[in-house]
Amino acid sequence: MPIEASDDKVELISPENPNTKVSVLLYGATITSWTIEGVEQLWLSSAAKLDGSRPVRGGIPLVFPVFGKSSAPGFDQLPQHGFARNSTWEFLGQTRENPPTVQFGLGPEQANREVYSKWDNGDNDFTLLLTIELQPDALITTIEVANSDSKAWKFNWLFHTYLAVNDIDDTLVNNLPGETCYDQLLAETYEEKAPAIDFNGELDRIYQNVSCEKLLQVIELGKVVHNVERRNLPDVVVWNPWANKSAGMADFEPKDGFHKMVCIEPGHVHDFITLEPGESWTGSQIIRKGDAIKLQAI
Ligand code: BG6
Repeated sequence: MPIEASDDKVELISPENPNTKVSVLLYGATITSWTIEGVEQLWLSSAAKLDGSRPVRGGIPLVFPVFGKSSAPGFDQLPQHGFARNSTWEFLGQTRENPPTVQFGLGPEQANREVYSKWDNGDNDFTLLLTIELQPDALITTIEVANSDSKAWKFNWLFHTYLAVNDIDDTLVNNLPGETCYDQLLAETYEEKAPAIDFNGELDRIYQNVSCEKLLQVIELGKVVHNVERRNLPDVVVWNPWANKSAGMADFEPKDGFHKMVCIEPGHVHDFITLEPGESWTGSQIIRKGDAIKLQAI
């Protein structure tokens, strides 16, 4: 059985290896675990709430229709990161046997009323279709956003992916030199000069308009641990909360867990996407295993 569905979650199991699997909570359509041959690829806080009482700390939460907080009209009442991550999605079923592929949907009927009503007064008719495909060595998540309204509206999208690492002290992220970066901690925009991103304190940056031809690699002690490919997702948030920020997050445990994670978050967040009535937009994140280091100049 490549798919196992219960009331609150769906599991995809690889026909090639029963220890290669993905677990998806209906709450937020949040991927909470992805193992390849038994090895966990994502970081999940041991204090993460999985009961729908708050967004999941770890895995792959979904960010829509706003990234962070925005003062833009129609978005200024929304809480950080919008309502997709705290709404219970509908499981639409399996669309392919092998590789196992499933879909989840969210529209105004399923959306968390309290939060959804803060986006343009809850007046936007939308459909989100999330497709999750489990390959033996890759996890592909694709989002389609459709405007089912008779007027245009705007949104951001982001896959808030918490990748597991052995030790953040030994971790680098490559292929970002030359890119435009907005540093959320400094509130400054600059060109990235570092040959690779390393981590020695809180880091919270939005790399803007990074060509989707560029592969992003998480490298530990010279070994590639994750390859992140993107389709139509030009922005990349790189985040690690480090000690002080994690200390202030009640659902972040263990407190030194920041050593074990790095968020590489592909999205479209540097500006809003506008969808006219009847239009749709699609973006994909592909996380793949693979050893070869690939260096790409700007
Ligand atoms: C990141 C942001 O995407 O999400 C950070 O860049 C933020 O600024 C982080 O702190 C976590 O957000 P939250 O709402 O899940 O605590």
